[in-house]
Amino acid sequence: MTQSPAARFTLDPAFGIGEVNPRLYGSFVEHLGRCVYDGLYEPGHQQADEVGLREDVLALIRELGVTTVRYPGGNFVSGYRWEDGVGPAEQRPRRMDLAWHSLETNRFGLAEFIDFCGKAGVEPMLAVNLGTWGVEDAVRLLEYANHPGGTELSDLRAAHGAEVPYGIRMWCLGNEMDGPWQIGHKKPEEYARLARETAAAMKMVDGGLELVACGSSGFGMPTFGTWEATVLTECYEQVEYVSLHSYYGLEEGDTDLDSFLACGEDVERYIEGVVATCDHIGAKLKSPKKIMLSYDEWNVWHVTRSPTMPPAEDGFAHAPRLLENSYTLADAVLTGSLLIGLLRHADRVTAASLAQLVNVIAPIMTEPGGPAWRQTIFHPFAQASAYGRGRVLRVEPDGPRHTTARFGSVDLLHATAVIDDETGDVTVFAVNRGLDRPLPLEVGLRGFGGELRVVEHLVLDGDDPWARNTLDAPDRVTPRTATDAVVSGGTLCAGLTPMSWNVIRLSHAES
Ligand code: AHR
Repeated sequence: MTQSPAARFTLDPAFGIGEVNPRLYGSFVEHLGRCVYDGLYEPGHQQADEVGLREDVLALIRELGVTTVRYPGGNFVSGYRWEDGVGPAEQRPRRMDLAWHSLETNRFGLAEFIDFCGKAGVEPMLAVNLGTWGVEDAVRLLEYANHPGGTELSDLRAAHGAEVPYGIRMWCLGNEMDGPWQIGHKKPEEYARLARETAAAMKMVDGGLELVACGSSGFGMPTFGTWEATVLTECYEQVEYVSLHSYYGLEEGDTDLDSFLACGEDVERYIEGVVATCDHIGAKLKSPKKIMLSYDEWNVWHVTRSPTMPPAEDGFAHAPRLLENSYTLADAVLTGSLLIGLLRHADRVTAASLAQLVNVIAPIMTEPGGPAWRQTIFHPFAQASAYGRGRVLRVEPDGPRHTTARFGSVDLLHATAVIDDETGDVTVFAVNRGLDRPLPLEVGLRGFGGELRVVEHLVLDGDDPWARNTLDAPDRVTPRTATDAVVSGGTLCAGLTPMSWNVIRLSHAES
């Protein structure tokens, strides 16, 4: 097989971008389809614990390395009454969920979610309903969740069995409020005012909260830019974050893998556009504060390849199979590239959520009464979370490019690198976007004080871009170890196979 000319970059520990905030490796659980019910929560399953959480799913979530979980939506939250999900489970109301046209039993609510977070070892991130509700209900929920005691709602929480407050630090002020599909969809001025009033009231309860204002629900929205500017002009001093959401997919009949694998370009342009807007408003307001980015929905989502609503004849079905994308090798390589895009902006993207966690556009799949397994996209996320901790180094690639229909000319190499400043260990994450040819990689390692050596080179690749992990073949796509990477004379040389995700770990330590 002929190979491309080499792609090169130089790493120097003096040239850093920023520390990786562990919250970059967050995920998202919504009351949608089988994410909660028949997903992470399935009373009666042989692996369920005493409250109904599946131990096999919890083990996979821990293996995935998830750090935060955003809950309970998504579109669902914009019609959600949080009181429905607290107190004795058998007394909770059954309701229509309008967002996903499903039946909500409320058997899983706030207490179950907090229990789940403790067992999964993740930080909770709660969204309040700013679609059908507003300031008062957000403050009531905050009082119920976080106030120590001695008030109606904090005492109610204690009466429900939770003496110790939940201590939730990070709160989302609604979800995708510029989306016409959103229950209680708002104009930018309407949302900006509601978000400011809600944030101000919540901070009167606890000034230490970290609040996320809704940005546009996508880079492609007509509201993008103007929405962020309007919202931040109103609530710059009340919030810490603005949100970003994006999904990338190939719809039926679309086989343009070159454009698909280049979608990391979109992530980076989107981030840079939001950073520019935040800083423009900050400069206008003469504020020393920097707004951070919460990329709290991102993933591959082939929208037309699995149902987004239950069939009309099902009425309001409970836990229907919605958004159950079965991911391919190509999807996993893009997931790695999207992670690289987030890491390359770690100075401003200090929270992110892979959407979602179980069954619904998810790294983990389950069968009711059956097993749980890792989708292809599980692997790059788990590896990035395991090894992508520390300080991101500046990477300026120089190498071959190719032309894509969607993004024009792009580098074949998409890469980033992270250093652990305590040990000096360095990890390079790299994607070869080329479908047909191996890409030689050469990384200059000046300034690291002594020669680094290759600990391991993990690769996700294969001959079939459409290969998947399924119930019957759960480990068809799994990472392998490559053996040709070497450091010699201060340069790392490695071969990146076509359409591959690569993790190259370097260390000073003797093996
Ligand atoms: O993650 C699926 C849906 O995508 C979420 O509910 C919504 O916020 C977004 O549009």
